[in-house]
Amino acid sequence: MADNWTPDSWKQDRFTAKHLPKYEDADALAEAVGTLAGFPPLVFAGEARNLKADLAQVAAGEAFLVQGGDCAESFAEFTPNNIRDTFRVILQMAAVLTFASKMPVVKVGRMAGQFAKPRSSDYETQGDITLPSYFGDNVNGIDFSPESRRNDPQRMVRAYSQAAATLNLLRAFAGGGYANLREVHRWTLDFMDRSPWAGQFKQIADRIGEALDFIEACGIDIEEQQSLKTATFYTSHEALLLPYEQAMTRQDSLTGDWYDTSAHMLWIGDRTRFMDSAHVEFLRGVNNPIGVKCGPSLEPDALLQMLNVLNPAREPGRITLISRFGAGKVEDGLPPLVRAIQREGHPVVWSCDPMHGNVVKSESGFKTRPFDRILSEVRGFFAVHRAEGTHAGGIHVEMTGQDVTECTGGAVAITDAGLADRYHTHCDPRLNAAQALELSFMLAEMINLELGEAREAAE
Ligand code: TRP
Ligand code: MN
Repeated sequence: MADNWTPDSWKQDRFTAKHLPKYEDADALAEAVGTLAGFPPLVFAGEARNLKADLAQVAAGEAFLVQGGDCAESFAEFTPNNIRDTFRVILQMAAVLTFASKMPVVKVGRMAGQFAKPRSSDYETQGDITLPSYFGDNVNGIDFSPESRRNDPQRMVRAYSQAAATLNLLRAFAGGGYANLREVHRWTLDFMDRSPWAGQFKQIADRIGEALDFIEACGIDIEEQQSLKTATFYTSHEALLLPYEQAMTRQDSLTGDWYDTSAHMLWIGDRTRFMDSAHVEFLRGVNNPIGVKCGPSLEPDALLQMLNVLNPAREPGRITLISRFGAGKVEDGLPPLVRAIQREGHPVVWSCDPMHGNVVKSESGFKTRPFDRILSEVRGFFAVHRAEGTHAGGIHVEMTGQDVTECTGGAVAITDAGLADRYHTHCDPRLNAAQALELSFMLAEMINLELGEAREAAE
């Protein structure tokens, strides 16, 4: 167990807590935290341990990680269809990648708890009115009015219940038949027919169906094979809102270890991953798998120092490093980090977030991400790992199963002018279902390059 750590040790003065909302009423905050602390955990410690074991396989180069979902979940977009559609696109991506790599794909949603957002400024000014910034639906409201922008601790309680209901539906889909590989054809969304990649997906689905027919003909009853009938699906979010995370942190009755039971995996953002950060202090003591966002300002030594705090035992699967450099920057920015990690022998998962380094303002005024820059960062990420001889282990994307128009480009090209059609995000622009599928086909190509080179090297 971590030394000198308690679920609230992050509150000590020697730590710097950035991007935390200020609550006017301390009693109201204490009341909400107390309510949450009495609620049931959302995940079980054993599940977090299973994810850690699965990620250890990724770190060893024997599996691949797909992590995706909304930039920010919202109270307004909380509908069963939204949850189902994001889930099914992740299943599609996982099916494509499993088929291409013949390796297991670890599926992790940015779902069931991804509410809080770090903001560069505490305040937002529109015209001559200045109000607190929007920090995510678990803190305040997105509408620009004094009532809505007031930080309300009871929003954490509402976020908990939304996370619980979301997780419940995800568990039902994953275990109740929806994710059965026999259903692979049905995961294609209706509006996807316009994408040329839907046809490609159908071909893979046909071949998976044939493989199942074949093994059935050989006398194996597929209905008895749990692994074909159910999918393993995990949840994750940025552990930003520490009062919420603290309230959800419990001691596992089996091992006595602490787990943040708000999700299986938590990550620490690029803006809160510094030495003496309250967020690092909090995450050091929970035993969940932890993600660390790595942006251009991260020095190799600072990364190593942080890993010595977050993973002193060098447990495989504990740490996933999520690089987010931007197209054209990853080629020079990533290698020094990869080399430092190799030199020190840290068993990490390397994952690529091709979203956050590629934000531009469109001519029409929308915050967007050109799809070709997203693909270009992913290509650069894979090229770096091929050159360094390390495993490009996964992808972390902001995406939705909905037919939104938030990122420009893709096979069903979204133009600058088209962004206004269905721009719904509460925060950053997301890949739509067709773009997410297109990305997975490109990933499949990259994975085959990596595997091909590994095979050649072994010969
Ligand atoms: N159980 C395996 C897994 O979760 C195989 C599997 C079942 C699967 N349904 C799936 C893989 C849907 C991808 C998509 O990986
Ligand atoms: Mn984002």
